[in-house]
Amino acid sequence: MPPGTLFIASDHAGVKMKAELVRFLENKGWKVEDLGAHSSDSVDYPEYAHRLCAEVLATGRKGILICGTGIGMCMAANRHKGIRAALCTHEFQAKSSRGHNDANVLCLAERITAPALACVMADIFLQGEFEGGRHQRRVERIEEA
Ligand code: RB5
Repeated sequence: MPPGTLFIASDHAGVKMKAELVRFLENKGWKVEDLGAHSSDSVDYPEYAHRLCAEVLATGRKGILICGTGIGMCMAANRHKGIRAALCTHEFQAKSSRGHNDANVLCLAERITAPALACVMADIFLQGEFEGGRHQRRVERIEEA
């Protein structure tokens, strides 16, 4: 997919990685809408997850969420119907999250993942295409819950 607009947000434990990702993605031609947080003052990650998910659902664009572990962001994001958020710590997860799961939000962990790997995973995620086929049915069945 050619670069377009995407959304990014973090809590205080993800602001450094967020800044690195914004720089990396803008260099690749993406327009990155940074929805905060904008300082290392302690904040509640669900606020930022909900803010980003509202934008992803309204626009159909993709989002990236970062917190210390990636876990809280992923939990909060996946409460939104239509959001498929994937917590990734390896390139293979980033690739499969698009190809198999049609993920629309990538969750990353600043306290675990090196910034360079986070950039590689973001690139893979944003370029990845959903494979459809048998995966279409499985993704639809997520909504059976
Ligand atoms: C903040 O200390 C930390 O709990 C948060 O960034 C995240 O890891 C929660 O899942």
